[in-house]
Amino acid sequence: MHNVRVKEAKDSPIRDKVVVITGASSGIGKAVSLALADHKPKLVIVARRKKKLMQTAKDLRRLGLKVLPITADVRDSEDRNRIIDFSITAFGSIDVFINNAGLGKVNLFLEQPEEEINELIDTNIVSLIKLTQKAAKVMKEQGHGHIINLSSTLVMLPTYPFAVYSATKSAVKTFDDCIREEMLEHGILVSTVLPGPYNTEFNKVANIGKASFKGYKVAKLAQEIVKLILKPKENLILPKMFRPLIWITKHSKKFKKKVVSGIASQIIAGKHVTDRELTSEKEVVEAELQIVTS
Ligand SMILES: NC(=O)c1ccc[n+]([C@@H]2O[C@H](COP(=O)([O-])OP(=O)(O)OC[C@H]3O[C@@H](n4cnc5c(N)ncnc54)[C@H](OP(=O)(O)O)[C@@H]3O)[C@@H](O)[C@H]2O)c1
Repeated sequence: MHNVRVKEAKDSPIRDKVVVITGASSGIGKAVSLALADHKPKLVIVARRKKKLMQTAKDLRRLGLKVLPITADVRDSEDRNRIIDFSITAFGSIDVFINNAGLGKVNLFLEQPEEEINELIDTNIVSLIKLTQKAAKVMKEQGHGHIINLSSTLVMLPTYPFAVYSATKSAVKTFDDCIREEMLEHGILVSTVLPGPYNTEFNKVANIGKASFKGYKVAKLAQEIVKLILKPKENLILPKMFRPLIWITKHSKKFKKKVVSGIASQIIAGKHVTDRELTSEKEVVEAELQIVTS
């Protein structure tokens, strides 16, 4: 097993490349960092919670990776400069930049406090745009690079208690679609990741509590994001079973209304769909269908 891993790392196109991941203290960002271990890139990991970030760094070093942890708030202009400057100082380039730091807040729009609106917009879209520009300027000088931005399937499944969150994630998708061609002229690729529900700290931060199903295991999504780095494409929608759900929602107004009000009322009412973690794609879609048909 060990020999296989060494061989994979030696042959990997991202061996010794520099990958920066924001939001690596938990959830998707941490899982992607760990999933990259076999490929032996140099990793820059970013988040605000120092203790949790250092734990990620420790786990990665144990796997033999060179890691630079940067405790930073992506909303802070000085911190954004530090992320870029420290990455270059430590490792000399930025080959892949993953804008993963983000959060959701579930609320009825009319009841959403201004601080929540500001936090969502500042973290999910303003900081992402500014970090993308800084990273892209470095990549332009290098003549290559890959930017990966985290959006959400909620862009295609609009659900009312997620209005401001979904608006920020729609902005990410539109932003990526707009800059893609300009970036390509400089050898920079742009990918958008649109995940469905995954079991991270997202629900807790979003105040969803135990209102909805817990979602998929994040490890599989992390593996797919690693594949996206190895074989870039424009959009990654996961879990796969959400693709037909998105298609039906797009083509049937009646179904869309059911999805919107079904999921929304579950979240608002704080009901359980299930107490278990849903592990298979089939289970998640069945849970979705249970909502929309009940
Ligand atoms: N889980 C899902 O179902 C799901 C679905 C669609 C999209 N997404 C997106 O996926 C991304 C990752 O979320 P997740 O599910 O992994 O949730 P998570 O476990 O809560 O992770 C969020 C990460 O972002 C970091 N972060 C948040 N605000 C930050 C700030 N101002 N500065 C620096 N780091 C910050 C957090 O670290 P600190 O708190 O330590 O700073 C944490 O490491 C988000 O953009 C989210 O919108 C998630």
